[in-house]
Amino acid sequence: MAKIKKIGVLTSGGDAPGMNAAIRAVTRTALYHRLEVIGIRHGYEGMIHGHFKELKAHSVSDIIQKGGTILKTARSEAFRTVEGRKQAHEHLKSEGIDAVVVIGGDGTLAGARKFSEEFDIPFVGIPGTIDNDIYGTDYTIGYDTALNTVVEAIDKIRDTASSHNRLFFIEVMGRDAGFIALRSGIACGAEAILIPEKKNQVKNLKDFLEKGFKRRKSSNIIIVAEGDESGGAFSIAKAVQDDFKDYDVRVTVLGHIQRGGTPSAYDRVTASYFGNAAVEALLDDQQSVMVGMVNGEIAHCTFNKAIKMHKKVSMEKMDIAEILSI
Ligand code: F6P
Repeated sequence: MAKIKKIGVLTSGGDAPGMNAAIRAVTRTALYHRLEVIGIRHGYEGMIHGHFKELKAHSVSDIIQKGGTILKTARSEAFRTVEGRKQAHEHLKSEGIDAVVVIGGDGTLAGARKFSEEFDIPFVGIPGTIDNDIYGTDYTIGYDTALNTVVEAIDKIRDTASSHNRLFFIEVMGRDAGFIALRSGIACGAEAILIPEKKNQVKNLKDFLEKGFKRRKSSNIIIVAEGDESGGAFSIAKAVQDDFKDYDVRVTVLGHIQRGGTPSAYDRVTASYFGNAAVEALLDDQQSVMVGMVNGEIAHCTFNKAIKMHKKVSMEKMDIAEILSI
């Protein structure tokens, strides 16, 4: 592989707290190795339109503690087309960018894999999504902060739920995965957790509520991952309310507050390691790999595996949550 002199870095897909810490680590590690660094704005959209900006050490000062992404992000439809990717390649070439670090979720990695199959520019990925649903890493940037945000919000809802003897359905993010729901549910002592990976949960939920009702359990917190097969929190709440007229039911959708806010120490540190490892991987002639954390150590996983394989929510942990909620 030709010697890398200039790298690009971008964030793409849903933003996640800690992305800035990763941008900082990529930039400073690259500068340490005397590489030039170009920030690509608005994710793949910026690559297509040549929205580039040189990053110096001071460009990434004072951002480690900030949520969001200073490079902005986008979900690019154009990058899914051959034409879009060709345009992106031309811009990278004319800017002299000879390697790219992408920070994002599965869509971002899929875009990087497609591009690197077609063109000769090495890409390395950093997992950044609050959903934690990427194979090949135990943690994705943003997950820890999002969890803490969810836990703080649910603790507050618990106060009002028990004061009013109410049944609350709380919807958390996770279109395809229940990682946020499961972990926040355990952390908050939720009475039940509904996730996309587990089927037919509404029937069990009704049995559970029936029992609770008989022993005069007055307030309940039910966490629903947005991608649950029975629909979001509103539709499940409706189905339950129809059978339990005496329950006073309320619904809270936590929504995008889960994506913002100051990154936790864990996310900042993990993002810093990931950013450093991504640049080291490129300098080590690796490409089409994602850096990650497995059992507390930096690991590398091919784009192919990270995209094709499915990270599974632990059903044993779902069972523990159920045991603890009796
Ligand atoms: O991928 C992260 C995520 O936050 C999902 O949990 C959620 O379903 C989705 O993004 C929301 O995306 P958008 O902000 O584009 O509506």
